[in-house]
Amino acid sequence: MDVEKEIGQILQGYQPPLVLMTANQLGIFDQLSGAPVTAKQVADALSLSLKGTERLLNALAGMEILVKEDNRFHMPDAWRKYLTEKGDHCMKQWIQLIYDLLPVWTQLPDFVRSGKQLKSIMDMLGTDPENMRAFIDAMHDKGLKATEMIAREIPLGDANRMLDVGGGPGTYSLEWAKIHSHLKATVFDIPPVLEVAKDYIKRYDLEDRVDTLAGDFEKDDLGSGYDLILVANVLHMYDADSGQNLVNKIINALEPGGRVVLHGFCTNQDGTGPLPDTLFSLNIGLLTEGGSAHGVDEMTRWLEKAGVDDIRHFRVEAVPTGVITGIKVSN
Ligand SMILES: C[S@@+](CC[C@H](N)C(=O)[O-])C[C@H]1O[C@@H](n2cnc3c(N)ncnc32)[C@H](O)[C@@H]1O
Repeated sequence: MDVEKEIGQILQGYQPPLVLMTANQLGIFDQLSGAPVTAKQVADALSLSLKGTERLLNALAGMEILVKEDNRFHMPDAWRKYLTEKGDHCMKQWIQLIYDLLPVWTQLPDFVRSGKQLKSIMDMLGTDPENMRAFIDAMHDKGLKATEMIAREIPLGDANRMLDVGGGPGTYSLEWAKIHSHLKATVFDIPPVLEVAKDYIKRYDLEDRVDTLAGDFEKDDLGSGYDLILVANVLHMYDADSGQNLVNKIINALEPGGRVVLHGFCTNQDGTGPLPDTLFSLNIGLLTEGGSAHGVDEMTRWLEKAGVDDIRHFRVEAVPTGVITGIKVSN
């Protein structure tokens, strides 16, 4: 291995994401959703400098997000789907969220020195409506692919009554209710987040089968009678004791024979991989008091202790990848 080259590549690694995030933020991708355009046309349309625009577009072409021919740029359909407003899986909010977290990441040395969070996700969600909506929209952008892939792996159609704990926009409930016309789902989250979830429920036209329940799952009742409970991208916000408590609580709310699905970042036993999950553990350390990407073994033990059997772990080709599922033991 050429270590010097390796270090060089690691050091340059932050630049392509910044190119993508800058183009996203400046609305450049939407200028490339039609016929091929010159750098000048893009710069003029968005009141940007020609010099900067040209260099950014060249970099995007170098990254193979754009194609440059006869001094004109265009974006292949495969990228338009994700990067333009009109794309049917637009990831704009998600990309912007990653950009917004950059200033926190530059304080990584402070986190390593103190072990203390630098910003609170829950404060962000509870106190600033604009940030909260952007965050929840980003969750929706990100969740879509995982919903489809998890549904392919697990027989969710066997369930009739689902609880989506810390459900955010309700993406998983909505997508699964769309596939299974008999499924009814409840999205449980804090009140301000549920205002956004209600918009999504309306947008999906599923008000008759997907509803909301407001509360704090550390204190409030989750209801009962569910035969499918999902906890997606939530457990990493809490420490291991809170994780076990939440798992105990959801298994209490689950009918015997019902299915539980834990989805999110989760690492191998020694915490070193998969790399995105290991890096996420740093990310969530910056943003929560006790959060981390818990180990698959650890989460499996939580489920076993709570009375879950038939436990299976698999990964999907989405972000995040981890899924652990099992069935509540019948009495
Ligand atoms: C990272 S988001 C995940 C949203 C959704 N499950 C998804 O994967 O798209 C975490 C969600 O958990 C909710 N949450 C965290 N702690 C909570 C608590 N104590 N009670 C209720 N909701 C909570 C947050 O408000 C947020 O909507």
